[in-house]
Amino acid sequence: MSSINPDLERVLLTEEDISLRVAELAQQISDDYRERGNLYLVGILKGAFIFLADLVRQLSIPHDVDFMAVSSYGNSATSSGAVRILMDLREPVENRDILLVEDIVDTGQTLSYLHKTLQGRRPASLKSCVLVQKEREAPHEPIDYLGFAIPDVWVVGYGLDYAERYRTLPYLAELKRSVYMKNGS
Ligand code: PRP
Repeated sequence: MSSINPDLERVLLTEEDISLRVAELAQQISDDYRERGNLYLVGILKGAFIFLADLVRQLSIPHDVDFMAVSSYGNSATSSGAVRILMDLREPVENRDILLVEDIVDTGQTLSYLHKTLQGRRPASLKSCVLVQKEREAPHEPIDYLGFAIPDVWVVGYGLDYAERYRTLPYLAELKRSVYMKNGS
């Protein structure tokens, strides 16, 4: 890597690492759902928009895309503990095969909340596809399709932000502590 943004400590996943793994996940998901009807992919905004866009363009099965927006962190580097739905799905999901698409599982609160909420709407099935999971001990719903396990550090890029910055970096990188400690987080 020639030069990276000075706010970043190191690149954890290169553009190539991500693209190869996204292709593998898309292949696996396509194989698993080939015999079923339309797969209903639910991208969790904002973070998952880039991952979802890359993933769906590699699927070889019929699928629909929808979004939910939830909030857990605000602009702080630590979790507030609360999950709120800011924008809900457009359609009922009863009897549909849902695949939740998330950029990251950190404490697992968001994924657990979404599972509980969507399970209550009686889908035919409910699974999750997550690009990265932090290696920590917090218990959460099992992840059905996982891209990578990563260290418990603050990461940005490929959809993930810090205070709305760095989302469009093509790789996933560790943010320097000095950047997120500046705001007293
Ligand atoms: C991030 C991420 C997940 C959630 C994971 O979203 O996109 O939804 O946090 O954290 P958890 O496992 O501790 O619940 P964030 O609230 O930062 O919103 P954003 O996607 O809009 O940036």
